[in-house]
Amino acid sequence: MQLTLLTGSAHASLAGAVAERLGLAPGDCEVQRFPDGELHVRILDSVRGHDVYLVQPTSPPVQEHLMELLLLADAALRAGAARVTAVIPYFAYARQDRRATGREPLSARLVADLLVAGGVRRVVAVDLHSLSLEGFFGVPLEHLSAVPLLAEAVRPWAGEQSVLVAPDLGAARLVDRYAHLLNLPVAIVHKARLSGEAVEAQGITGEVRDRAPIVVDDMISTGATTEAAINALLAAGSRPEVTVVATHPLLVGTAADRLRALPVRRCIVSDSVPGAAGHLLPIEVVSLAPLLAEAIDRLHHDRSLGDLIVHR
Ligand code: R5P
Repeated sequence: MQLTLLTGSAHASLAGAVAERLGLAPGDCEVQRFPDGELHVRILDSVRGHDVYLVQPTSPPVQEHLMELLLLADAALRAGAARVTAVIPYFAYARQDRRATGREPLSARLVADLLVAGGVRRVVAVDLHSLSLEGFFGVPLEHLSAVPLLAEAVRPWAGEQSVLVAPDLGAARLVDRYAHLLNLPVAIVHKARLSGEAVEAQGITGEVRDRAPIVVDDMISTGATTEAAINALLAAGSRPEVTVVATHPLLVGTAADRLRALPVRRCIVSDSVPGAAGHLLPIEVVSLAPLLAEAIDRLHHDRSLGDLIVHR
């Protein structure tokens, strides 16, 4: 079966780097917008009988990129693709994996259902917001971990006086995965979210005084969580030498300004979404291309992903 990699408009450079590692060129697709705002996609080469991988993060603008992905899946299915796998380096709506109050949708579940309805028969994702998402998919979900790649980039910034910090309880499991690789102590900031852009740190569990914090999260969106955690750490006597590491650098709105105003000496992120390197920050972007290409190659050849996936 022939392997074909397709992508929409979300992250051409990552898709191109993945394709290059696989010795391919991304298949030609057309993505157009009609005057009324509707999207139209067309796969320009035959994919009949192919093993198709759609590489597309659902990065901002989220709705556009998600819809492109759904349309590409449907187009591939209707064009006779033998198997359609969505490779989604950043999976939007993952934070809406539960109903926080009444009369809310279970949005992450709906997005999973839409992908399957669109013809996706397997999903590859990276460092999902929570492990519970795996139960939302009626098709196999391969949950890859960028932690080993990011931890290697963190290593030069990790000294004897460092402490890994989860900026909220939700990141505790993630911080544990870094601790296992870097052999460092862990602290947890207790966070309350006040609104989409405002959070409050309400306390810290663990020793942080005179230690250089390495703040670990799955994503930085507005930067509010990171900012609140760093301010709480400084108030608790941490050294003003902060490293920040996150898989998904959405960095929306004033996020970069918020981080710039803090003593962040290094911000280590992946390229799951585009654009991080463009911010005026001491940022280091680690590419997911080797991880994604290896996963696609193994899936195409029906080989185990064992060491690439998130271990609980
Ligand atoms: C929340 O549980 C996530 O893990 C992140 O901590 C959070 O969503 C980051 O968002 P922001 O940067 O807007 O605080």
